[in-house]
Amino acid sequence: MASLNWLEPVSVEDGVKAVSALFEERYGYVPQGVWCAPGRVNLIGEHTDYNGGMCLPIALPHRAFVAAAKRADRKMRMTDRFVEEGWEEADLDVMGPVGSPGEVKGWTAYLAGVAWALEQHGFALSSGYDLALYSCVPRGGGLSSSAALECATAVAIDELSEFAMAGSLESPNDSGRARLVEICKMAENEIAGAPTGGLDQSASLRCAEGAALALDCRDNSTSLVPFDLSTAGLELLVIDTRAPHSLNDGQYKSRRDACEAAAAKLGVSQLVDILPENLSQALEDLDDAEQVRRVRHVVTEIERTREAIEVLRTGALQGEVLSKIAELFNASHDSLRDDYEVTCPELDLAVDVARASGSHGARMTGGGFGGSAIALVEAGRVNEVAAKIAQAFAEAGFNEPAFLKAVPSAPAHRVR
Ligand code: GLA
Repeated sequence: MASLNWLEPVSVEDGVKAVSALFEERYGYVPQGVWCAPGRVNLIGEHTDYNGGMCLPIALPHRAFVAAAKRADRKMRMTDRFVEEGWEEADLDVMGPVGSPGEVKGWTAYLAGVAWALEQHGFALSSGYDLALYSCVPRGGGLSSSAALECATAVAIDELSEFAMAGSLESPNDSGRARLVEICKMAENEIAGAPTGGLDQSASLRCAEGAALALDCRDNSTSLVPFDLSTAGLELLVIDTRAPHSLNDGQYKSRRDACEAAAAKLGVSQLVDILPENLSQALEDLDDAEQVRRVRHVVTEIERTREAIEVLRTGALQGEVLSKIAELFNASHDSLRDDYEVTCPELDLAVDVARASGSHGARMTGGGFGGSAIALVEAGRVNEVAAKIAQAFAEAGFNEPAFLKAVPSAPAHRVR
């Protein structure tokens, strides 16, 4: 069988080198610094963020690197290795939300959008920026490739403009980072036009190496949760299904709209206010079958996430802890497939094969409709499980999947 497509992360050293060289080649001078921000996988807590619920992401070792320098005017110039030559431009005095005359198209919306959103939040910029980008977070893989671009840009501009919201890696300013999350989210919602919640940006800016991040989206408070794979002899296999995926095509928004409509009908401000013990009554009070399914997913998923956080706090990822996590991962996927209806044949197949090959739980991660799945696998068996998934994909006539190994990694920070 053909070799598997493993996506290795680019080291910090190589990322800095590549992005600095790109910056110098395109703009003809040396950048003032280089910053990076990771993609993420969410362990559990899917489609809960915009309902005020809990999520449990880890940051990936796969990151976006941004080299940056201030300009003398209010232009944003942006380039990437995939831009054949030169750069794309936006003007801070002209740009505006999707649908306005100043609309910014494509990937540059994630970078320029952050500068725009900073100003909307009252952080006036004294200049525009030259930015070069080098990312190894797979695009469209449901691993927050866009949040990585936003967050790397945010920490770069934050430091060069002396707003001091991010702090350093050694001494992060968490309340400042929470503010940057809101700014990046605004860029994504209004400039890129994807109506997402704050999970991805929170993961990229507020996670920590070696742990998972318990994020309470009711008040944006966070705490770290042990997630030590290597001591437990496990790996977290990520399967990028390569099924086309997009969060601004209306499907994601329709899920959000259904949740908001159901909350309004039930007389609560957010679905997190429906407690598990009141779920049956709430479902009876809804007369729309689709809303019943959506609400059942959200309320049970928030509860599963709470349970996962609690059980991970009790001890190592072995024995009963591991079986409980496997059970919660599996139930989460099934609920996303049957009640929330955001999986797709590729995600379901990856999960089914992972489970049949002895994984300790497997589920889709992220927004769904394509993108990636995760499986907890014994370290010595990762290649075998990945090979079985690749074979099943070939037999089904799907695109060839790619694979990553996820370890809880560092949040956005300056690297040069
Ligand atoms: C996408 C969105 C997040 C979140 C997840 C689902 O990743 O960007 O805000 O809603 O989907 O959990």
